[in-house]
Amino acid sequence: MSRIADPALWREGAERIAWARRFMPATTALARELAESGIVRGVRVAVSDVLEPKTANVALVLAEAGAEVAVSCAGRNTDDAVAAALDHAGIPVFAFRAAGAAEDRENVLALLDWRPDVIVDDGSATIRIAHTDRPALVRDLIGATEQTTSGVRPLREMQRRGELGTPVIAANDARTKSLFDNAHGTGQAVVLAVADLLGEPIAGREVAVAGFGRVGSGIARAAAALGARVTVSEVDPVAALQAVFAGYAVEPLADAASHADILISATGIAHTISLEHLERLPEGAAVAVGGGVGQEIALADAASAGTVETERAGAVSTLRLPSGRSIRILDDGNCINVSAAEGNPVQIMDLSFGVQLAAVEHLVRSRGELETAVHILPAAADDRVAAHALASFGGGVDIPSDAQRDFLASWRPRS
Ligand SMILES: NC(=O)c1ccc[n+]([C@@H]2O[C@H](COP(=O)([O-])OP(=O)(O)OC[C@H]3O[C@@H](n4cnc5c(N)ncnc54)[C@H](O)[C@@H]3O)[C@@H](O)[C@H]2O)c1
Repeated sequence: MSRIADPALWREGAERIAWARRFMPATTALARELAESGIVRGVRVAVSDVLEPKTANVALVLAEAGAEVAVSCAGRNTDDAVAAALDHAGIPVFAFRAAGAAEDRENVLALLDWRPDVIVDDGSATIRIAHTDRPALVRDLIGATEQTTSGVRPLREMQRRGELGTPVIAANDARTKSLFDNAHGTGQAVVLAVADLLGEPIAGREVAVAGFGRVGSGIARAAAALGARVTVSEVDPVAALQAVFAGYAVEPLADAASHADILISATGIAHTISLEHLERLPEGAAVAVGGGVGQEIALADAASAGTVETERAGAVSTLRLPSGRSIRILDDGNCINVSAAEGNPVQIMDLSFGVQLAAVEHLVRSRGELETAVHILPAAADDRVAAHALASFGGGVDIPSDAQRDFLASWRPRS
């Protein structure tokens, strides 16, 4: 049933999946609780996420907990050996590295035609294609859970327009997800991926970061920690002020670009880095994306205006702009830590996947009770993920005393 590149690659993939599992204590503990409760037994769960060793474990632990699981992934984010390992474990996989846009879409449709009860998504493409191409399936879903900011945004917009057809848990918005994955894992992983691809130090360089949300603040922190001078650009004055208070220079992007050695977008908004911004960069500057939507760097506009590629070395492409200046684009403007590196550190993704499992459990337990809307994961579930992770990092928390509880309970409105 699977659509994969080469089933014979399974052994290599299985070894790397098993290695990743060793560093996923929270996901493993939550999966054990899920298995013991029997709550997902027989539930059909479609997992649409980056397909590499860490993410593969989400599919595997759900299957071990008794769910029926199938997986799809965009070609550019697929590790063929990992796909083969999941297929070997009996999980249908619709993903292969060589897939282009049309095959990616066919793979998503194949996943939907497998008729899931729950969709676990990253970027919400699968949830959105279900709404446009398989509306009858959407009506029958228990619900969906979405892992990232740029995936949650369009779902909230669909809800606003009355077009959302199933309850969605915004896994991204759980504290144990965005305070750690977005803010720490992504920042570190993006900056290290940029350094690796360029083969250049970050220290002493001028790094401009567009967007100072969770991801952008993490990128700024990681770049500064490696010795970069960081300038932040924002459209939100509060976020810009936070950047000032964190010690960074803040400038409009056209100004920040004019003295940047490295420019990184962390907004998840298409056209954040326009041709005009590219034209402001110094000769030889490098541009990368840590957010991850299509055309976050407006490369299609640049090409229409006459920009040409003059050299390509691995994932580093040199473009000559209409003005004649040359700049370097890293991995064609794809989400760099995912498409050109190993993603975020496993110990941090452990939290994100723990949240996804908690979200699946919440959807199944609340079957038929949740409004058709985007929901936040209940705080108790968030706390459970944190408690498991905290135990693995070797920490503990205090339990409020009776006196403290009495104090809180004694609050009354003032007359
Ligand atoms: N690479 C990864 O592994 C990874 C991990 C998590 C999230 N993400 C993605 O990163 C992106 C950002 O996520 P987040 O959680 O930080 O979102 P966020 O909403 O917290 O932050 C985005 C920030 O960008 C700012 N912004 C918007 N348009 C801008 C513009 N034109 N110029 C400058 N700033 C602008 C917003 O004001 C906001 O502060 C999303 O697309 C998300 O899906 C990537």
